Amino acid sequence: MKLIIDDANVAAIRELYEYYPVSGVTTNPSILAKSGRQPYEVLKEIRSIIGDEAELHAQVISAKAEDMIEEAHKIVAEVGGNMFVKVPAIREGIKAIKVLAKEGYKITATAIYAPMQGYLAGEAGAVYAAPYVNRIDNLGGNGVAVAKQIHDIYENNGMKTQVLAASFKNSQQVLELADYGIGAATVAPDVMEGLLKNDIVDCAVAQFVKDFQGLCGDGATML
Ligand code: E4P
Repeated sequence: MKLIIDDANVAAIRELYEYYPVSGVTTNPSILAKSGRQPYEVLKEIRSIIGDEAELHAQVISAKAEDMIEEAHKIVAEVGGNMFVKVPAIREGIKAIKVLAKEGYKITATAIYAPMQGYLAGEAGAVYAAPYVNRIDNLGGNGVAVAKQIHDIYENNGMKTQVLAASFKNSQQVLELADYGIGAATVAPDVMEGLLKNDIVDCAVAQFVKDFQGLCGDGATML
């Protein structure tokens, strides 16, 4: 499972890129709004941080398929590199995905709350489909189960589309999907930091240091 950063804060992206094995960055219009910066300015800065080969995902805003297609062309031309255009898996979006996939654009079908949206987006040619795990949980559903079902639909039908699970609020949701072998998960910085946060581990490491320095002196290391 690829791990992707779901954020547009360039300082956070820079730091997470230094520490974690991440494959790219996803954004959505709300995430870009939170940055308070001009969308293309921030997307280009993210591109310069992560390099041309890393995935960068940016979403179209238009309601009609024809306009979504035009936006997709503009996003890819303007930002460049390994660019994924996010298109909502609604009726107009599926129409746009069909056209864009045929043109060779890499599409992430987004705003997925139900397995059927994932299936249709895959058939239309999306590279990824992004089920919103935590938002589905908040509606009384089971986001992890929806993501797994979409993954199974792709596997059982020999489809190339991968699940890019999104909207996480805890480590357990991420772990269950990694365990299941889904394609990718995009995770906000606080949740990503939480994947590794464990006081008992810190305690164990501190004890090793204490024992070693009891033997060799304060501040000693294997150097
Ligand atoms: C990602 O592509 C989604 O837009 C995002 O993960 C939604 O996350 P949220 O539910 O935390 O807003």
